[in-house]
Amino acid sequence: MSASRIPAQRGPTVEFEFDGDPVVAHEGETVAAALLAANVAAFGIARNGEPRLPLCNMGTCFDCVVTVDGEPLVRSCLRDVCDGMRVTRNEAS
Ligand code: FES
Repeated sequence: MSASRIPAQRGPTVEFEFDGDPVVAHEGETVAAALLAANVAAFGIARNGEPRLPLCNMGTCFDCVVTVDGEPLVRSCLRDVCDGMRVTRNEAS
């Protein structure tokens, strides 16, 4: 038996905004995956000033929260990208 890879199939491209900057992603990707692929260094800022980035990628740690179209505290690892969505960093509260 030999191992083989399944060819990757990506959806059509979509474009959304992160803190005012355009980000190109593919339909079916999560916001977290798209932001990581775009080399975003911080999804938010913690109270101690440290950057917040996804940790678990499965919706349990909340380290990936962002604001999406005005909706605060959205776990970006669970939200699919949509064309034209506006995403902003979360600031510590
Ligand atoms: S990365 Fe942990 S909840 Fe999103």
